[in-house]
Amino acid sequence: MTTARSGVVWFIRYGLPGFAIRRMAQRGDLIARSAVDPTVHDDPAEFYGQLRAMGPVFGNRLIGASARHDVVNHVLRSEAFRANPGGAPTALLDKIMTAAIDPRALGPVDIPSLLAIEPPQHTRIRRLVSHAFTPRAIAGYADTIREITDGLLDRVGDQFDLIDDFAARLPVTVIAKIMGIADDMHDELLGIGNDAALTLDPAMSWRDFRAADRAVRKAGVLLDEHIAELRRAPGTDLLSELVQISEDGDRLTDEELRVNTLLLLGAGFETTVNLIGNAVALLLQHPEQLATLRFDPDGWPNAVDEVLRYDSPVQVTVRVAGEDTELAGQPVKAGRALVLMLGAANRDPDVFPNPDRFDVTRPEARQHLAFSAGIHYCLGAQLARLEAAIALQRLFERFPDLAVAAPPTRRRTRVLHGFENFPVAVRARVR
Ligand code: HEM
Repeated sequence: MTTARSGVVWFIRYGLPGFAIRRMAQRGDLIARSAVDPTVHDDPAEFYGQLRAMGPVFGNRLIGASARHDVVNHVLRSEAFRANPGGAPTALLDKIMTAAIDPRALGPVDIPSLLAIEPPQHTRIRRLVSHAFTPRAIAGYADTIREITDGLLDRVGDQFDLIDDFAARLPVTVIAKIMGIADDMHDELLGIGNDAALTLDPAMSWRDFRAADRAVRKAGVLLDEHIAELRRAPGTDLLSELVQISEDGDRLTDEELRVNTLLLLGAGFETTVNLIGNAVALLLQHPEQLATLRFDPDGWPNAVDEVLRYDSPVQVTVRVAGEDTELAGQPVKAGRALVLMLGAANRDPDVFPNPDRFDVTRPEARQHLAFSAGIHYCLGAQLARLEAAIALQRLFERFPDLAVAAPPTRRRTRVLHGFENFPVAVRARVR
C-alpha cells in the first residue's frame, strides 16, 4: 500500500476516532475512558461498577454501550444487531476506506473475515472451517496438547518468562499444527500476531498502524506461498482441506481463504496466551484457590471458565443496529454502534453473586460472555478451554513452587487483556 493510501485507511479507521476518543476521555466520558485511560486498563474492576451503574444502555453522541450481562447477551444473539450492518450512516466512510484498502493488506478482522460478515456468507464459511473444531476433533487434540506442553516445560530454566517461553508458545504450536504450518514459522507468526493485535484497538497510533500493516502483509505473503505449496501437495491438515474444497467446489475465494486463515491463526494464539497468563497471575495471587485445584484436579475446567469470567482475555466487542429497534426499553436508531463490555458484563452481580471474588468452584462460571454469544460465538472456545486446562494443570504439577520472579507487565492492547512479560522462578521439579 502506498503511504497515501494507508494514511487514508489509518485516518478513517483510527486517526479520526482516536482524536475524538481522547477528547471525550479528557472530559470524563466513560466509554472513551474505557478505550484509552491507563488507570482503567491496569485495574478495571472498579470501573466496571461505574459502567454498570450508568444503566442497561448508555452512550454519547457517537456511540452507545452496555455493561450489563442480560443486555450484552441479548444484543449478541439478536438479528437486529450485526457485526457488519452495511448501509449504516458511516457507509460513505466505509466506501472510501474499501476503495483505499489494498486487498493484499486485508487483516484478520477485515471483510471477508468471519468476524466481519453476516449470513449467508458467514454461514457458508463457518460451516467449511468448523469441522476441525467439533467436540470430537477437539478431544482428539488432547494428547498432542499434553505432549507440546511437556516439551515446552522440559526446556525452561529455573527462571523463565511465562509468556514468551510457555503461554504464547503452546497455542501457536497447537494452531499451527491444526492448520499445517511448519514449526520454523512459529517465531515469525508470534511477531506478526503481536503487531497485528493492536489493530483491534480503536485509537491506534500511525506508527503502530504501519507496523501492523507490514505484519499483515508479511503474513499474507507467507500464507500465499504456503497455500500454493499445499495446492501442489496437500496434507491432512485443515488448510489443505480448505484449499481443496475451494478448488474443487469453488467455495472459498483466495481472499476468503487468506483472511480467514489469518483470523484462525491470530485468534488461535493471541487470545489463549492471555488466558494462560491471566490464570497463572490469579492463581499465584490466590494460593487458597490453587490449593483447591491441587486437591481436586477435576476442578481445572471450571477454574479456566472462572479466569475467563474474572479477567476476560477479550474485553469488548462492537455491534451496530441494522434497523431501527429497541433495547432495554430505549429506542435505538439503525446505524447506532454499541460497545459491548464483555469484561464488565462478566462481573454483573445479577448473574454472578459476589462478582469480584475469584472462586474456581463458582457454579455459574460458565455463564460468562468471554467467548461472545450468537452466530459469532468463538469457534475455538473448546480448544482454548482444553489448552488452558492442560497447560495450567501440568505447569503447577511439574513446578509445585512456581513463583513470581519480578512484577509482570501488562500488554498495551485494550481489547485484548493479558500480560506482555511475566518473569517466574521454579526450584522443585516433578516429572
Ligand atoms: C481464550 C481464548 C479465546 C477467547 C477469549 C476468544 C474470544 C473470542 C470472541 C469474544 C469472539 C467473538 C467476537 C465477537 O462476537 O465479536 C471470538 C470469535 C472467534 N474466535 Fe475466539 N477466542 C479464543 C480462542 C480462540 C481460538 C483458540 C481459536 C482458534 C481457532 C479462535 C477462533 C475464533 C474465530 C474463528 C472466531 C470468529 C467466529 C465467527 O465470527 O463466526 N478463538 N473469539
